[in-house]
Amino acid sequence: ALVRYPNPSIGVVVPTLMNPFFPKMLSGIAETARIQGYYTEVFNAAQDGGDWTNLAARFAQGRQQGLILAAPKVTEKIVRLLAENEPMPYVLTDQADDVPGALRVAVDDTTGSGLVVDHLVGLGHQRFAIVCPPQLPFNMAARYRGYLDALGRHGIPRNAVTYVSAPLTREAGQAAAARIVKLPGITAIITINDDLASGLLKGLHELGKRIPHDYSVVGYDNTDLSNYVTPELTTVNQPVMDLGHAVADCLLAKIERREPEVPATLPVELVVRASSGRAK
Ligand code: RIB
Repeated sequence: ALVRYPNPSIGVVVPTLMNPFFPKMLSGIAETARIQGYYTEVFNAAQDGGDWTNLAARFAQGRQQGLILAAPKVTEKIVRLLAENEPMPYVLTDQADDVPGALRVAVDDTTGSGLVVDHLVGLGHQRFAIVCPPQLPFNMAARYRGYLDALGRHGIPRNAVTYVSAPLTREAGQAAAARIVKLPGITAIITINDDLASGLLKGLHELGKRIPHDYSVVGYDNTDLSNYVTPELTTVNQPVMDLGHAVADCLLAKIERREPEVPATLPVELVVRASSGRAK
């Protein structure tokens, strides 16, 4: 059985700390937790998930009163581990896999990707590249379906959309540029997050491409980075701090056996900056 320690804390499992989205979400979580008297402990699945026994051993110490799960692949194992021991409250968010019946605080990914497509089609774009990894976590799968559905609604045929595979890093975005410039007729590039977009902007610049003259590039997240790349990035704002506050509020309610106020899907908005423009 799990042993309880006196200092109340919650644990948060994130997929990585290298993407600014997650430190910001953690700030929101920690702020709400601290106000309500809890510490926040971070589990970085990129480090610990590779060695599952390490992560499990840390949970088994039982210091946390509850968990926020935001990483793919480890969710099911963690939920099973919790069920096999003294049950611990948990809440899912962001990249966590779906667990039937579990409480999830979500952002409106489908609307977000629809806004990206509406914007680009409105600028006259007809041929698209979508840059993302082959295995999409829960929230990004919804985002990806949202792109395809919106393109379909605008009557863009599937053969006008090229999928470009890249893991979720700036380096991968940068490297994807060389593949994209070889694709005929593409004028708009959609990346599934801002990290990929910022790397891609650099890669396209290195290949002598001008943005948005040669390509429009649109990201997703509105991380602080998106204001500091050249040109500034058009992207979708996720209310990351609000997400952190909401998911922590729900978990703390569960821990304290209050009824959690699960927010409706949190809203997103398109932030139009200089990286998108009229199709050539
Ligand atoms: O860029 C980090 C991405 O991972 C975000 O889009 C966020 O939703 C998370 O899933």
